[in-house]
Amino acid sequence: MTSEYKVSHFFNNLANLKEISTLEQASFANPWSCESLSAEILNPLNLTSIISSKSATKPEILGYSLTRVISPEAELLRVAVKPEERGQGAAKKILAKLLRKLISLQVEKVFLEVSEKNLPAIALYQNAGFSNINYRPNYYDNGTTGALIFEIVI
Ligand SMILES: CC(C)(COP(=O)(O)OP(=O)(O)OC[C@H]1O[C@@H](n2cnc3c(N)ncnc32)[C@H](O)[C@@H]1OP(=O)(O)O)[C@@H](O)C(=O)NCCC(=O)NCCS
Repeated sequence: MTSEYKVSHFFNNLANLKEISTLEQASFANPWSCESLSAEILNPLNLTSIISSKSATKPEILGYSLTRVISPEAELLRVAVKPEERGQGAAKKILAKLLRKLISLQVEKVFLEVSEKNLPAIALYQNAGFSNINYRPNYYDNGTTGALIFEIVI
């Protein structure tokens, strides 16, 4: 169990690609390929954030997020935590640090879309202060699942 976390943010750096790709494959029904992830991380508009354990001996990447930053707006594209580490506050921490980082990048509004079936993620965003501003029916899963659009003003 990990109780202490460190969050780092970077643009344009593939140093953690392998770990992020492993987390991606473990976290999404339709994961981005390693090549797609690599392209997203290298997109100069995209901010990658990673959360790792504070272990001095072997810090391990436990989660990540990808955010497209076009100030004064940003879009949260991805957030995921390693399955064994979920439910311990890692996503809450990464989101809190991310929002602070985005404020420093002159972002004023953050948007995201999430499947209406993804209850853990919906609760995460609502608890972080996001509001549901729109609904797109038939958006995911071959048109069987709607998307909720969330926004936060920061
Ligand atoms: C969504 C996800 C990132 C949450 O990560 P996590 O580290 O487990 O979340 P946290 O422990 O920080 O929880 C933060 C809040 O999220 C909500 N939450 C997290 N897991 C939940 C669950 N299983 N059920 C209900 N609410 C949940 C709670 O509101 C929680 O706050 P609380 O503990 O104060 O009640 C994680 O489940 C995940 O990686 N899922 C797969 C990828 C994904 O769906 N990403 C989001 C769509 S892009």
